[in-house]
Amino acid sequence: MLDWTDRHCRYFHRLLTKEALLYTEMVTTGALIYGKGDYLAYSEEEHPVALQLGGNEPTALAYCAKMAQQSGYDEINLNIGCPSDRVQNGRFGACLMREGGLVADCIKAMQDAATIPITVKTRIGVDDDDSYAFLTDFIDKIVTDSQCRLFIIHARKAWLSGLSPKQNREIPPLDYLRVYQLKKDFPQLTIVVNGGIKNIDEAKQHLHHLDGVMIGREAYQNPALLTQVDVEFFDQRSLVIDPIIAVQTMYPYIERELKQGTYLGHITRHMLGIFQAIPGARQWRRHLSENAHKKGADVTVVKQALEFITGN
Ligand SMILES: Cc1cc2nc3c(=O)[nH]c(=O)nc-3n(C[C@H](O)[C@H](O)[C@H](O)COP(=O)(O)O)c2cc1C
Repeated sequence: MLDWTDRHCRYFHRLLTKEALLYTEMVTTGALIYGKGDYLAYSEEEHPVALQLGGNEPTALAYCAKMAQQSGYDEINLNIGCPSDRVQNGRFGACLMREGGLVADCIKAMQDAATIPITVKTRIGVDDDDSYAFLTDFIDKIVTDSQCRLFIIHARKAWLSGLSPKQNREIPPLDYLRVYQLKKDFPQLTIVVNGGIKNIDEAKQHLHHLDGVMIGREAYQNPALLTQVDVEFFDQRSLVIDPIIAVQTMYPYIERELKQGTYLGHITRHMLGIFQAIPGARQWRRHLSENAHKKGADVTVVKQALEFITGN
């Protein structure tokens, strides 16, 4: 998720679940090839981690897939779901649902360049192209022409004009049944559902019909949810971590990052929601929000904030 699941966020989330696959923000081929930043940087501890790419040129995507594999990413996911104006102007994201042939060419080129799995994240339709036949034609084209076998489906369509990206995550109705039907019609595919999933019970319901669940906003805003994932879905009770311990485990990482010039607030902003509904949570958030951006702020700010939760 752009601006949200950066490497600091993923490092923190990995402390909360060892098993869930984590995704980067979308990185465009243009940024990777021509940009000055190190868009592929991540910490080894984040594995398994998937890089999400945005683009529409097979050659450029192949080049980026190779870079991603060399950097050690575990999966590359192609974004065919983003409806933002900027992305549409670049002719990628959700509007590519209308160009299944091109998407298949992109995936094939990436598969020729890299051996790690290449997956697709998409919607159930765009604008008035929202019939079930439109969705199955799109998937069928990709499956026939490429080796892509894993699809993450955001269970709502996107309106390409008139709605902001935020509205496009809220206004078009969720249609989980359509995603279930897709799995019935393509049983050989791994189908992961996304959109509006708020808790473990809802995720379990979907898993009666599907192969996986992707949780976006709720995992970010209420990261403690992730502490239940390993025990509930992977039978890994020993991996469950207390959120207080998770915060304390961040201290060495924070110290290391601050030495390299990272601002404290760039790390702690992802930790604000960890104590949701726990006494002291509001003070925890306030202390971090008011102090983490100050000049010279260091790990002491986090230790002080944690005292509102632990009481000492
Ligand atoms: C701030 C923000 C940034 C997002 N950036 C991306 C992105 O880079 N790539 C992507 O595929 N989806 C992105 N999304 C959409 C989410 O991945 C997800 O599809 C959507 O929020 C619905 O799932 P949820 O209800 O679990 O959040 C973003 C969502 C938010 C809130």
